Amino acid sequence: MAEIVISGGKTLSGEITVQGAKNSVLPVLAGTLLCYGESIIHNCPNISDVDTSFLILEGLGCKCKKQDSTVIVNSSAVNGYTIPDDLMRQMRSSVMFLGAIIGRTGKAVISSPGGCELGPRPIDLHLSALKKMGVTITEEHGLLCCETKNGLRGADIHLNFPSVGATENIILAAATAKGETFIHNAAREPEISDLADFLNSMGAKISGCGSDTIYISGVDKLYPTTHTIIPDRIVAATYIAAAAVTGSKITLKNTMPSHMVSCLSLFRESGCDIKALGRTLTVSAPKRLNRVPTVRSLVYPGFPTDAGPLVVAMLSLSSGTCVFVENIFENRFRYVGELNRLGTKIKTEGKIAVIEGVQSLSGANCKCTDLRGGAALVTAALAANGETQISDISHILRGYEDIVSNLSSIGADIKIV
Ligand code: EPZ
Repeated sequence: MAEIVISGGKTLSGEITVQGAKNSVLPVLAGTLLCYGESIIHNCPNISDVDTSFLILEGLGCKCKKQDSTVIVNSSAVNGYTIPDDLMRQMRSSVMFLGAIIGRTGKAVISSPGGCELGPRPIDLHLSALKKMGVTITEEHGLLCCETKNGLRGADIHLNFPSVGATENIILAAATAKGETFIHNAAREPEISDLADFLNSMGAKISGCGSDTIYISGVDKLYPTTHTIIPDRIVAATYIAAAAVTGSKITLKNTMPSHMVSCLSLFRESGCDIKALGRTLTVSAPKRLNRVPTVRSLVYPGFPTDAGPLVVAMLSLSSGTCVFVENIFENRFRYVGELNRLGTKIKTEGKIAVIEGVQSLSGANCKCTDLRGGAALVTAALAANGETQISDISHILRGYEDIVSNLSSIGADIKIV
């Protein structure tokens, strides 16, 4: 199995262009099902979750092509409505295809997404919303069979939690439903606005994204379009954390600083000097990071849960004790045990991680537990003295395009073996 090997302690310097957002391109790819013809998507990241999405789309009858970071999906001949079990297990966010498949074909069969590395991750909010829109859902032999006899109809939906995936699924189902849909207590993440921009350019009528009430007026038909995916704010935060732990000065191109306000203020509080000019961020880290007493993950625009692991790794080298409170997922600290093998001093209790700052880390063998947990191991390894071998790196490759070549291009001693 491939491993990432890092010899840490190197100062980084140079420029990285940040990839398109994983959590935007996935729902946008689902949205291509809602029209007949070729949708063209630019700034699509080269990551395995996109490859998995292609397999799902092709299994439904679409034709997918990739030319560098441009993807073309021809959804003229959709003739299926099932996502196979192995693909559901490979990528839990496949549930995002549910609304679009039902919007296109009137039915869908998926296996109930198992729990994953972040806890049970139920989809009750997705299913209760779809039922309100006229979908009957039966569960048999671990399969969810969804069907709408008279087509999807608009509904007034209140989410008891601003779930990103549920908000996106409802938007995808409501875009061509009969009538109007309101989503109250909707998620406000930038990726949701990007999905709405994509669908509106296809002829949808969606407004209110970015606020907690989204309004969709169903239309009869959507048309193929061309769209450019927004930059990945979590990948950008990952490279900032890499600079922070190595006392480096780096430049990030193709970012959206306005999507990263809570992240940037955390990095600045830890002592990094960050200048934002248009889509370029210049990061200059101190020799020793300040202690940041408490960091809490919250729904957008609060501090993003996905940046939690890399920030926990970074704060393990700060000059004091910090507390990280994970408020979104039930079990997002599985990476901490692996981090502690590199010399971090982190104790977790439920949703709280207490991080005692240490002077230095030392390389060790460790294993990815999940996507962002893997990014945390890379972050720590870049600062650790000696060599770190990271295994199970398929988790990292799900969401990070060219992370090894990008880091090595700015001076890290990192390779895949
Ligand atoms: C999306 O996951 C992202 N994934 C996650 O990124 C991100 O961490 C998360 O949003 C929060 O920002 C994609 O966009 C593909 P949620 P999602 O529904 O939609 C509970 C990464 O690292 N919940 O907002 O699954 C759920 O259990 C990934 O890129 C229900 O209880 O997140 C969780 O505790 C990880 N019932 C919380 O809400 C539901 O029906 C947040 O989940 C749905 C969710």
